[in-house]
This record gives sequence, structure tokens and C-alpha cells, in this order.
Amino acid sequence: MVIGILKEGGPENRVALLPESVATLTKMMVTVVVEKDAGLKAFASDQDYENAGAKIASKDEVIRQSELLIKVNPPTDAELASMNEKTVFLAVLNPFFNKELIRQLAAQNITGFSLDIIPRTSRAQSMDILSSMATVSGYKAVLTAANSLPKFFPMFMTAAGTITPAKVLILGAGVAGLQAIATSRKLGAVVEVFDVRAAVKEEVTGLGGKFIEVEGAVDDKSAGGYAVEQSDEFKKKQAAMVHDHAVKSDVVICTAQIPGKKAPLLLKKETVEAMKPGSVIIDLAASTGGNCEVTRDNETIVVHGVKVFGNSSFPVDMPTDASKMFGKNVINFLKLMISAKGEFNLNFADDIVKGTCVTHNKEIVNERIKAMITI
Ligand code: NAI
Repeated sequence: MVIGILKEGGPENRVALLPESVATLTKMMVTVVVEKDAGLKAFASDQDYENAGAKIASKDEVIRQSELLIKVNPPTDAELASMNEKTVFLAVLNPFFNKELIRQLAAQNITGFSLDIIPRTSRAQSMDILSSMATVSGYKAVLTAANSLPKFFPMFMTAAGTITPAKVLILGAGVAGLQAIATSRKLGAVVEVFDVRAAVKEEVTGLGGKFIEVEGAVDDKSAGGYAVEQSDEFKKKQAAMVHDHAVKSDVVICTAQIPGKKAPLLLKKETVEAMKPGSVIIDLAASTGGNCEVTRDNETIVVHGVKVFGNSSFPVDMPTDASKMFGKNVINFLKLMISAKGEFNLNFADDIVKGTCVTHNKEIVNERIKAMITI
């Protein structure tokens, strides 16, 4: 089979597969065609890809030759327009927010796989792109906060007196939040954490964070380990507690999400206004509305002396390791669909393959997405 790697556009620096991942595919007897300069922004040259066994071609040629195309981001209109019927397309499609794109893939009879909806089972852990990118985001969020804060993260006892450690408040202890706790602790900060899932308490304390409990959280086990929408009464109680802790913090890192929904609003405008001038808020949930009321997606603003970063795309700033992790996840996923002879086998009997597919044979095949979109 022939797999094509497309070059990303705009501010994206990542590439779906680095040469090391391409080498894994060529060893599996797969032919790989890479768009010219696809890896340049992730510091991988065309020569590196050729050394890994790939061919380099123009975008049009990659699209024309490949049975399966891989990208990090959704296809552009031009890419979509030149795709053959029955092409298989793999990317982070963000289907709950990109309904028109999903409709279009079905209409063009393209088999679309959305890597951000890989089922969250133990077997799928090695393919979990969201976890990989959340790891990068949690780490980078803390470094960005430390870099912007007008004071130290660690405690210092110096001849010029004692410097107290920075206080970091983390909202949401999923993969990004846990990485943010670990990184903040490594830098010596004191860390407090809010989450609605009681199950994370042990992980938070294990990493050296203090878990702050708000009574009355709805923790639905049937949500597959994810958080669910909370009652109005709980939200009020939580906002008051977040306020009390945020005004004493130097940094707030927002990571709370509810899959397929707008991010929960946890940090009110009044809270930001009451925080210490010079404090920093990093809102990783900015692209889905933000956990902080004043967040502006893709912008950094200053409100009452508090710097608020609306950045949900930190992986773009760490393209080497972000691409490396992304590529490893993709290869592990592809192993479910490539035979020992390097042939393509769309095995829908596999729950991970089935659960990740959004469109096939001109239909939207994922039930949750189908319920939201009508062709
Ligand atoms: P996420 O990005 O959906 O949410 C981040 C965190 O925000 C979650 O911990 C969530 O409980 C929290 N949150 C949501 N609403 C909140 C609110 N109102 N107040 C405070 N916190 C709130 O979560 P992520 O990182 O994607 O992980 C979710 C779960 O999935 C975890 O249990 C994780 O262990 C599990 N998981 C399983 C995988 C697998 O088995 N393949 C892979 C990755 C994660």
C-alpha cells in the first residue's frame, strides 16, 4: 500500500510522521510518499525522509498516489477538492466542532479517521494522541507561566533573604493537568488542584499537589473516565472556592474540559480582577471557550495587571517531540490496519478502528457524531 504524508499549513510546525516513524512503515513493506518540505518546521529534511525509505513528491502527486493520507490538522479545501474517492484520510478532525468538514468527507466518499476520538481503552493507550499533546501542553504551559512571572518558582534562601515559592493553582487534573502539576513541582512551586473526578485525588497527591475537594460533584462512571456537566449549585460553590484559592495564587493553569462540549467556566472576571497584579493565567481550554471568563482564544491579554494566555496550541511550539509522539501514536494505530505483507486492511471488526472512523461509504458512521450532523 501507499501512504502519503501531507505538509501542514499556517502556523503549524508539526508533521504527522517524522523520518523515524516513516522507517517503521517502510520496514512493514509500506511505500511512503512525503510532500516536499513537510518536515522542515520540525527539523526533518527531505533527505532525512529519503534516508528513511520515503519518496518526496509535490502535494498533488502525494494525494494522487496515496490510498491513505495522514496529516496533523484537517484537510484544506484545496486538498479535499483534489482527493480521490475512497481515499482514507487520517488527522485530528475535531468532528464535534467541524461538522461541515465531516459532511463533506462523507459526500466525497472519503473514509475519514479522526485521531482525537480514539476510544480511551487500555489497548488504545499507545495510540492516544490527545494524551500525547496534553502532555506537551501541560509542560509548556508551566514553562510559559514561569517565564512570564515576575518572581521565582522555587523557594530560595539567599544572603539577600528568603524567597517564598510560587503558588500554582491547576484547574482540571486530566493528562495536561497532571503534567502541569509534575512540571510545577519540579520547578519548586507549591501546587493546588481542583477536579470534579474524585478518582484523580490519589494521582494529584502522589505528584505532590494538594487536592481541593468541592462537595457534591457529579462523577459519572459511565462517561468513560471523563468529566460530565455539573449542577448549577455545584458550579456556584466551586466558583467561590476557586476564587478564594486563585486570589492567593501567582499562576493559574486551566485545563478543564468536557469532551464535545464548551469548556466549563471556572474562573470569573471578578476573580481575575481580584488576583495579584503580575500573576499569570494560562488557559489551555481557550479553543473551546476557555475556563476563564476573560480568555481570548489565541491572544495574550493583560487584565488588571494579570497576564492571560489564551493558548490551546502549545504542541505547535515543541514540534520535534510533539511530532515524535504524534507519529508513534499513528504508527501504533496503523498497525491495526496493515497486514504482514504491507497490505491495507480496513478491519472494522476491531473496536479501535471502528470507534475512530467518522465517515465510510458516503455515510457518517460514528453514532455520536451522526446524532449531531445530518447529511
Ligand atoms: P480532559 O481533557 O477531557 O479534561 C481535563 C480534566 O478536567 C479532567 O480531569 C476533568 O475531570 C476535568 N474537569 C472537567 N470539568 C471540570 C470542572 N468543572 N471542574 C474541575 N475539573 C473539571 O481529560 P483528559 O486529560 O483527556 O483525561 C480524562 C480521563 O481519561 C482521565 O481519567 C484519563 O486517565 C483518561 N484517559 C484514558 C486513556 C486511555 O485509557 N487510553 C488515555 C488518556 C486519558
